[in-house]
Amino acid sequence: PASSRFTIVEVGPRDGLQNEKTIVATGDKVALIEKLVGCGLKNVEATSFVSPKWVPQMGDNSQVMQQLSRKNGVHYPVLVPNIEGLKNALAVGVTDIAIFAAASEQFSKKNVNCTIEESLKRFEKVTNEGVKLGLNIRGYVSCVLGCPYEGKIPSSNVIKVTTRLLEMGCSEISLGDTIGVGTPGSMSRLLDDLLTTVPVEKIAVHCHDTYGQALANVLAAIEKGVRTADSSVAGLGGCPYARGASGNLATEDLVYMLNGLGFNTGVDLDKLLEVSAWVSQLLNREVGSKVGRALLCKK
Ligand code: HMG
Ligand code: MG
Repeated sequence: PASSRFTIVEVGPRDGLQNEKTIVATGDKVALIEKLVGCGLKNVEATSFVSPKWVPQMGDNSQVMQQLSRKNGVHYPVLVPNIEGLKNALAVGVTDIAIFAAASEQFSKKNVNCTIEESLKRFEKVTNEGVKLGLNIRGYVSCVLGCPYEGKIPSSNVIKVTTRLLEMGCSEISLGDTIGVGTPGSMSRLLDDLLTTVPVEKIAVHCHDTYGQALANVLAAIEKGVRTADSSVAGLGGCPYARGASGNLATEDLVYMLNGLGFNTGVDLDKLLEVSAWVSQLLNREVGSKVGRALLCKK
C-alpha cells in the first residue's frame, strides 16, 4: 500500500566495513555515515564497540562517534558485546546499541568466544544497564537460516534466542542470515514458526546475498508482515567469523524494490547511488548492487 512505511537499517558502515582488510580512515567512515544520513536514512549502524583484537577495522569506534555530527531524529546504533563495550560507547554519548547472539553454538564460539547461554548472560548485563539508562536496544540473532560450521539450524533455536533477547529488553530482533544460504522457502517457514509466539512488529530481517537470495528473502518476510530490513550501501559486507559470507543485501536494490511495491522509505535513490559509487571507488571495487550497475553507467 502506497502510504505504508518501511524502515531500512543501513549497516554498511559497520557490517560493510568490518571485514575490510585495509583499515579505512576514520574521516572516510564518518563521511560515509553522514552521506547515508543525507540520503534520508534514519537508522545508520555506525560502528561496533567490540575488541579491537578481534575486529581491528572497528578499533576507531570512539573517534568515529566523536567526529560524527549527529542529527536529531536519526539513530546511530553500535554493536556492543559486553560491559566494557557499553562503557566505551556511553563515554561518547551513544544512545542506541545492538547486542548480537547466535542461533548456532559453533558460530557463537567463533564470534564472541563463548556458548550461546554464556553470551546471553553477558548480554543481559549490558541490557540491564541499557534499560536503566533508557537506551534503545536492538538484538541480533545470527545464523537463523544456516551456519557455516553446523549447517542447518532448527527454528526452535531461533525462537529460543529471540524470546530471551526480547525478555531482556530488546525493542526489536534482527534475524541474520549471516551467510546468505536462506531461500524464500526457508525464510517463510522460519517466520511461520517464529510468528506464532513473537509479534511481527518486533522482527527485522538481515539478509546477506551470498547466494543471490537476499532480495527474495526480504520479499518473503514482507509477505509475512515484516516491515524492517537491514541492508548495506553498495552491497558491502561480510562477517569476519563467517567465511563465505559475502555482502549484505545492497540498500539500492532494496529501495528500488520497496519503491516498486509502493512503500515509503524516505530514501532518495539518486543520492544513494552517488554514495554507492563514492564508497565503491574509495574501497577500490565495483559497485556491488544491480541497481547501481544499471543506473550509474547512464549518468
Ligand atoms: P575474549 O577474548 O573472549 O574476551 O573476547 P576478553 O574479555 O578476554 O577480552 C580480550 C581482550 O579484549 C582484553 O584485552 C579486553 O580488555 C579486550 P587485554 O586484557 O587482552 O589487553 N576487550 C575489549 N576491548 C574493547 N572493547 C571491548 C572489549 N571487550 C574485551 N568491548 C569478545 C570476547 C566478545 C570481546 C570478542 O569475541 C569480540 O569482540 N567479538 C566481536 C566479534 C565481532 O565483532 N563480530 C562481528 C559482528 S557480528 C556480525 O557481523 C553478525 C551480524 O551482522 C548479523 C548477521 O549477519 O547475522 C550482526
Ligand atoms: Mg551481518
